[in-house]
Amino acid sequence: MNMNLKVASKATVAQDIYQFELQHVDGAPLPAFTAGAHIPVLTPSGSMRSYSLCNDPEETHRYLIAVKREAAGRGGSISMIDGLHLGDTVAVGQPLNHFPLDPQAQKYVLIAGGIGITPLMAMAKTLYQWDKPFKLYYLTRDPESTAFLNQLKAEPFAQNLVCHHDAGLPGNNFDLWPVLEKSGSLAGLQLYCCGPAGLMSAVKDMTGHWPSSAVHFESFGVQQTSQVNDTPFTVNFSKSAHQVNVPAGTSILQMARSVGIAMPASCESGTCGSCKTRLLEGSADHRDHVLLPEDRAHWIMPCVSRALSDHLTLEA
Ligand code: FES
Repeated sequence: MNMNLKVASKATVAQDIYQFELQHVDGAPLPAFTAGAHIPVLTPSGSMRSYSLCNDPEETHRYLIAVKREAAGRGGSISMIDGLHLGDTVAVGQPLNHFPLDPQAQKYVLIAGGIGITPLMAMAKTLYQWDKPFKLYYLTRDPESTAFLNQLKAEPFAQNLVCHHDAGLPGNNFDLWPVLEKSGSLAGLQLYCCGPAGLMSAVKDMTGHWPSSAVHFESFGVQQTSQVNDTPFTVNFSKSAHQVNVPAGTSILQMARSVGIAMPASCESGTCGSCKTRLLEGSADHRDHVLLPEDRAHWIMPCVSRALSDHLTLEA
C-alpha cells in the first residue's frame, strides 16, 4: 500500500450502498487510471479488498468507489461502511486494470448487475468521450437498490442506458438473448460484463458463439462459487512440496495461503486472472470466467476452481 488517502466525502447512493470519495490529504494529483481499473484498499477490519473506480478517468484529484454492505460477505464491506468516516484516512494501493477497454473496437455492449455498475460507469464515460457507439444494460432488483440511477439518467449518454428491475422474480429477468444472439456476428464488437456470478454465467452461456477475445468479465461482488455437492480433494504444490486437503467451502487459494504459499490474487472471484496457476496433474472443475477453453487442460484459477479428480498437482 503506498498511499494514505482521506475520505473527502461519504454518501449513500442506494439502499446499503455507499460512495466514498478519496483524495490526497494535500489535494495532490492521484496516479492516473483507465476505465475498468480498481484499487486495493486496506479496510478497517484489516482485510484487503479491491474496489472498482467509478469516476471519470480524466479526473486526477479523486478516486470514487462504491461499497455495498454484504451481510453474507467476509466483513470487509461492513467495516468500510461502519468504520470509515468522513475525514478518516485509508491505505490504498496503485490502480490496477485487469478489465481494460479495447480502444480499437467499433462498438461496445456493457452489462452491469447490481454493484457491478461501478467499472462500467467509468467505461461509459470514456466511451462517450471517445465518441464510440455503446449500450449499457443495467440490471437490478428495484430502483431503491440501484446505485447512481439518477446520475446515469442525467448523463449525456443517458439514451444509451437500458435499466431493468426484476423485483427479485426469476421470471422477470431482462432477456439478453435477443441482444447477444445477433451481436455475436458483428465484427469489431466488444462486451464487458460485471455483476453477480449468476448474471456472468448467463452471459457466458449466451455468448458461446462469440469470439472469446470479445467477451470480458469482472466481479468484486460476493461470489457463490461453493456448491452443495462439493467434495474434498487433495492438492500437491510441486515447487513448495506442500500437500493440502481442500474441504468443501474452502478454496485452493485459501489452503495455499494456510501453508505459507504466496499466490498472487486480487478479485478472488475468478474474474481478474491474477491467480492463474499451472495445472500439472489431475482434472479441474473450472469455475472461473477468464480461462480460454484451450487453456483449461493446463491452467487453473485456484481462487474459485476445484477438482473433478481426487487429486491435483499445481506448480506453486
Ligand atoms: S484472484 Fe482473480 S481470478 Fe483468481
